[in-house]
Amino acid sequence: MAGTRNKGNPGIMGWIDDRFPATAMWEDHLSKYYAPKNFNFWYFFGSLALLVLVNQILTGIWLTMSYNPSAEGAFASIEYIMRDVEYGWLLRYMHSTGASAFFVVVYLHMLRGMMYGSYRKPRELVWLFGMTIYLALMAEAFMGYLLPWGQMSYWGAQVIVSLFAAVPYIGPELAEWIRGDYLISGITLNRFFSLHVVALPIVLLALVVLHIIALHEVGSNNPDGIEIKDNKDENGVPVDGIPFHPYYSVKDIVGVVVFLFVFCAVIFFFPEGGGYLIEAPNFEPANPLKTPEHIAPVWYFTPFYAMLRAIPPILGSQFPGVVVMGAAIAILFVLPWLDRSPVKSIRYKGWMSKVMLVIFCVSFVILGYLGVVSSTPTRTLVAQICTALYFAYFFLMPFYTRMESTKPVPERVTG
Ligand code: HEM
Repeated sequence: MAGTRNKGNPGIMGWIDDRFPATAMWEDHLSKYYAPKNFNFWYFFGSLALLVLVNQILTGIWLTMSYNPSAEGAFASIEYIMRDVEYGWLLRYMHSTGASAFFVVVYLHMLRGMMYGSYRKPRELVWLFGMTIYLALMAEAFMGYLLPWGQMSYWGAQVIVSLFAAVPYIGPELAEWIRGDYLISGITLNRFFSLHVVALPIVLLALVVLHIIALHEVGSNNPDGIEIKDNKDENGVPVDGIPFHPYYSVKDIVGVVVFLFVFCAVIFFFPEGGGYLIEAPNFEPANPLKTPEHIAPVWYFTPFYAMLRAIPPILGSQFPGVVVMGAAIAILFVLPWLDRSPVKSIRYKGWMSKVMLVIFCVSFVILGYLGVVSSTPTRTLVAQICTALYFAYFFLMPFYTRMESTKPVPERVTG
C-alpha cells in the first residue's frame, strides 16, 4: 500500500520514507511493477521516447543560453552557436536531429499500440494522453522550427498560420491573433520562443507523467494482448509478469545503445540528413520579400500536408483541406471506440484487420513522400486515393473487426 512502506525504520531511507513515499514509489513503478515477460522489439520505443525528451530539454536549455530570440539577431545567433560557442554545433545537431528522432520513435511507438490493441479497454486513457502528447509535440516542433529564422522557418510558418485564416468568419482575425501581427514578424518569433522553451515543455512533461501513471494503474499490454493481471499466483503476482527493474530497466539499455549508435552516426556524419532534417533554404536568413521556390514542411508533417493539398479548394477556400487534415489527426483519438474485435492483438485478429493495417501504413508513408515533392495531377490523384484509404482504416474498423473470424487467444503469454 502506498505511503506505509519502510516507515519508522532506522537509517536514511527510513527517515526519508517517514516524510516522502520514496520506497513506495520505487516499488510501485519499478521493482514491483510487474510487466509482461514477452515484451519484444516494439516495446523499446516508450523508453526511447523518454530518452529523446530528456535530450531535447537538456540541449534546448543550453541552446537557449546563446540564442537570441529577435528577428534581427536570431539567424546570426544560430551561426554563432554553430561556429563560436564551445560544442555549440553538437548541441544544435543533437537538438535538430533529436526533433526528427522524436517523431521516428513516437510513430513506431504508436504503431506498436495499434498492432497490439494497446489502446483498448482498460488503456483508453493511456492512449488519449498519448494522443495529447502527439498534438503537443507537433505544436512544439512547429514553433521550434521558426526559431532559426531561416527562409524555410519563415515561409513554413507563413503557410501553416495562413491555414487558420481559411476558417470561415473568424479566420483572418484568428491568424492575426496567432501571429500578433499582419505578417510573421519578430513579435511572432518572441511568442513562439516563449511557447517553445517554457509552456509546451511543461505541458509535455506533465502529459508524459500522466501517461505513465495511467499505464501503471492498469498495467502494460503485450504482443499477445493478454491481461496478465487475470492470472496471479498466491502472492498476488501475475504469473506472466516480471519486475520492471532489473529485467526491463537492463533490457531497455540495449535499445538505448543501439539507438545512440544510429543517433550519433546521423549527428556526426549526416547532420542535415540530405535536406530532410535541416532543409537547404534554412541556411538563408528569413526574407519576407522572397518566397522560396518550393515550400514543404519537415518530413514528420508531410503526410498531413499531402492530405491538405489533395483536397481541392471550394470557392477559393482551403478550408475543406484544413478540415480533412484536422480530421486525420482527430480520428486517432477515437480509435479505442472503433475497434470492436473480441481480441486485442493483431496476432489473433483476422486477415481483414491485418490487410487494413498494412494499407493504412503504406498510405501514410506514400502521403509522407507526396508531401515532400511538388504536386502534379497524377500525384494529387495518388494523394487523394491514399487519403481515402487512410480514413477507410478508421471508418470501416467497426465493421471489419466485427465481421472477421479471429484466432483463439492462448491462456498464457507466448514466446
Ligand atoms: C513523449 C512522448 C511519449 C513518451 C515519453 C511515452 C512513454 C511511454 C512509456 C515509457 C511507456 C511504457 C513502455 C512501453 O510500453 O513502451 C508507454 C506506453 C504506451 N504509450 Fe507512450 N509515450 C509517448 C507518446 C505516446 C503517444 C503519442 C501514444 C499514442 C498516441 C502513446 C501510446 C502509448 C500506449 C498505448 C502505451 C501502452 C503500450 C502497451 O502497454 O502495450 N504514447 N509510453
